[in-house]
Amino acid sequence: MTAAPRPTAPRRIVFLGPPGAGKGTQAAAVAREFGLLHLSTGDLLRAAVAEGTPLGREADGHIRAGRLVPDDLVLEILGHRLRQPDAAGGFILDGFPRNLAQARALERTTPLDLVVSFEVDRQRLVERLAGRWICPKCASVYNLASRPPRRPGLCDLDGAALLQRPDDRPEAVEVRLKVYTEQTAPLLEHYRATGLLHPLDASGDPAAVTEGLRRLLAGDQLGTGMRDRQRP
Ligand code: AP5
Repeated sequence: MTAAPRPTAPRRIVFLGPPGAGKGTQAAAVAREFGLLHLSTGDLLRAAVAEGTPLGREADGHIRAGRLVPDDLVLEILGHRLRQPDAAGGFILDGFPRNLAQARALERTTPLDLVVSFEVDRQRLVERLAGRWICPKCASVYNLASRPPRRPGLCDLDGAALLQRPDDRPEAVEVRLKVYTEQTAPLLEHYRATGLLHPLDASGDPAAVTEGLRRLLAGDQLGTGMRDRQRP
């Protein structure tokens, strides 16, 4: 059942979790329903790479290798997007922040209402990334095991030929998981200390995860402290 968003429901949200945890899939599933803008730094960076902008050219090698793109580039691209009028009503940040410096920069830009920690074991992450195919045209995400396209190799929405991401090669996945453990996972403690962090069991099938997330975004499971923080 779909829970109706309340006036006190969180509007400024971070999705935190390892590669392949389902952050992008779930953000795409709930953002429109809750009237939130889905902002993925990975998508913004890949678009810059595809357009061949100077920022995209600089980011490309880091992304392919599975390393983080330097903070100044990410902050430039995200800061610009967050200042657009459509971000004023609320947002889901998917894949940002990725380290403490980015978290501090975000805190100087906007307060947050909720940080959702996507929890999935490592074996599932590796399987999900190995089976992921994306549409280069509309960025839809498929999975050979859990969300296959209706016609093999083609996007359901626009018929474009699906591709695998270069950073889903096993050697890049290894680097990404290591980078997550070393640089991003410490943010869990950072946000736990502020009372913003809520864990989400993201190991079930996509629909089950969406259901759990809906309850969280409707504000049902948030402590009064978090709801009070949102009042003007
Ligand atoms: P980014 O695009 O953010 O990649 P990521 O964080 O590694 O996350 P993924 O997109 O791999 O996974 P996801 O959690 O969104 O999972 P998804 O929903 O796709 O970043 C890419 C790169 O850009 C970084 O490595 C870095 O170089 C750079 N970058 C980005 N942000 C940066 C930042 N802030 N600072 C510096 N550098 C940055 O699902 C994965 C697969 O599983 C899909 O096939 C999906 O269909 C399937 N799936 C999803 N949910 C389920 C489920 N419940 N059950 C079964 N299958 C599922």
